[in-house]
Amino acid sequence: MSKVIVGNFGEPASALVFSADGAQATLNSKQVRVRMLAAPINPSDLMAIRGEYSKMLDLPAVPGFEGVGRVVESGGGLFGRWLQGKLVSVLPPSAGTWQSDLVVPTTSVIPLPSGMKIDQAATFFVNPATAWLLLTHVTKPRAGSAIVLSAAASALGRMLLRLAKSQGLRTIAVIRRTDQEGLLRELGADATVVYTGDPQQEQAALHSIQVAAAGRPLQFGFDPVGGKTVGLLVKSLSAGGKLVCYGTLSGQPAEVSPRDLMTTGKQIEGFWLADRMAGMSLISKIALIRRLSSLVAGLLRTEVSAVYRLADIKEAVTAAETPGKSGKVLLTMDETSLPTRR
Ligand SMILES: NC(=O)c1ccc[n+]([C@@H]2O[C@H](COP(=O)([O-])OP(=O)(O)OC[C@H]3O[C@@H](n4cnc5c(N)ncnc54)[C@H](OP(=O)(O)O)[C@@H]3O)[C@@H](O)[C@H]2O)c1
Repeated sequence: MSKVIVGNFGEPASALVFSADGAQATLNSKQVRVRMLAAPINPSDLMAIRGEYSKMLDLPAVPGFEGVGRVVESGGGLFGRWLQGKLVSVLPPSAGTWQSDLVVPTTSVIPLPSGMKIDQAATFFVNPATAWLLLTHVTKPRAGSAIVLSAAASALGRMLLRLAKSQGLRTIAVIRRTDQEGLLRELGADATVVYTGDPQQEQAALHSIQVAAAGRPLQFGFDPVGGKTVGLLVKSLSAGGKLVCYGTLSGQPAEVSPRDLMTTGKQIEGFWLADRMAGMSLISKIALIRRLSSLVAGLLRTEVSAVYRLADIKEAVTAAETPGKSGKVLLTMDETSLPTRR
């Protein structure tokens, strides 16, 4: 039984400790035991370890909001017994996927096709569901219109780009480094704009976004950065456009002029997957899961840059926050299913 523990909130590389001890928890009739195979290191996990996330961890805690594993024991019940032996995506009610064995309610697992690749199964839900909901439910951009998105080289940004392209949208990718422009073009971005939040870049960035829209209405923008990027994206939208804020990567409060909202009918809206899921009917959740199952190997795939063992958690969290990384960093709990890779 190995796990990663956070005892006190702080910087992940110092706050996290690896432990190889621990007794197995017992099951009640509505729970299953999952032998974990892999889990991603997402920005939300790192915020939770710092004590800065909307869902606070109850310390000491095992972090990890999603992952993949195999059900090895059922506490009972028809569904629990049916789950036995199945490959499942695990979304624990609080957190806890960064460990080898995990007991969760049967309602916290999603059965996956047995042949799904483990790296894609590890990242099955959080980013793919967010990308899908943002582009098909929260907003419904008209085919032929343009969208602008920041942090476009993130795992989620890449999903949004591919999905938007498949919907016939013109895509404008805002990034903070020039060395990602080629990659984003390959992913299907129609234009790339580099903006680091430096006020001196703002006019040129705004002009580039407007030129890149090529006369199409810029109805929607998507921002997980915050700070000055919010102001830039709001300015760049067409009158009546909407910016959806879904992250706080810069740690900065949104800087937007009220005048840009007052005079043009533009809006800013927030999105949080946990909230959205809580308000969804069972039928809509099942439809969403079916849709993701058909798209995670394609438009909603995750590029992986490195895979670490739980014991190497300090290096893993450092790699996950290294600027310009080429893909998602995963943790493996079973190297026969997902070998380490650096
Ligand atoms: N609201 C929700 O329900 C929800 C759900 C899922 C994800 N999210 C959010 O979506 C965002 C992306 O997640 P992910 O898993 O795709 O991330 P990821 O693959 O780990 O990538 C992180 C990205 O953030 C960029 N970044 C980091 N700090 C930045 C800053 N100060 N300014 C500009 N860019 C910065 C990095 O840019 P470089 O490449 O330049 O280093 C990198 O591309 C996160 O904020 C996450 O919390 C929200």
